[in-house]
Amino acid sequence: MSDTTSSYGNNQNPHSRVRIPHLQQMKVLGQKWAMLTAYDMYAASIFEEAGIPVLLVGDSASNNVFGHESTLPVTVDELLPLVRAVSRTTRRPLVIADLPFGSYQATPEQCFHTAVRFMKEGGAHAVKIEGDMEILPQVALLARSGIPVMAHIGFTPQAEHQLGGYRVQGRGQEAHRLIESARAFEAAGAFALLIEMVPDEVAAQITAAVSIPTVGIGAGVGCDAQVLVWQDMAGLRTGHLPRFVKQYADLRGVLLGAARDFADDVQTGKFPGPEHAFPLDRAQEKNHR
Ligand code: KIV
Repeated sequence: MSDTTSSYGNNQNPHSRVRIPHLQQMKVLGQKWAMLTAYDMYAASIFEEAGIPVLLVGDSASNNVFGHESTLPVTVDELLPLVRAVSRTTRRPLVIADLPFGSYQATPEQCFHTAVRFMKEGGAHAVKIEGDMEILPQVALLARSGIPVMAHIGFTPQAEHQLGGYRVQGRGQEAHRLIESARAFEAAGAFALLIEMVPDEVAAQITAAVSIPTVGIGAGVGCDAQVLVWQDMAGLRTGHLPRFVKQYADLRGVLLGAARDFADDVQTGKFPGPEHAFPLDRAQEKNHR
């Protein structure tokens, strides 16, 4: 269902940019919201029309656009044009650029310079970085510099080799530590937290412990917002899906059917028909249709 009239917090104008205070106000009002990844013009403009207030140009482009097996290989130079496409073609959603592996971990200064590229060259309105307490100085420097930063905690795919694969984080003793990290990120100036693959009770405790919005993926219903990778949500991806994915469409089936029908029509000479061709005499164009 199209939802171009949604208001977010006190943002009553359906055409003006969603901004961080709107997200914060929604937390206060208890209004939940949805975030999707987007990597190109068409997906971004469809999600904007659907009323999605926040779009993430995720490093998951590594898997979902560039065909890698993990998020590790994608580079700043590969992600920048995708961020530019999404920010250029949308008016309303807040566009967050994901900083890829190796582009921010070394020092706060490295992080600052990468974030500035995504804001200046990509037109992003905010950035996201993954990690735990070790990236606190990065978050603090960005926040001091006027760069809104979302901290991605829990399972952090860029550290999959260190974490031993895709594993739920924050179970047992770790829960307390994760809640403390969340508090520290808020204190350092993060505008939001993305919480990935954490038990729902722990994510709900984090959500209650901080006044900034939490966005969950595999973190249960207690978060302030939810995010999915759009190809997962729309059923473009095949094979094994993580437990936290819900498919809302069978886009792969639709595209497959369309591509097969096209190929059949070409083989059988049904396409192009006269209505798709250009007659010698322009006056006959109408009769051609
Ligand atoms: O890059 C990405 O798609 C993410 C997901 C967790 C939403 O960070």
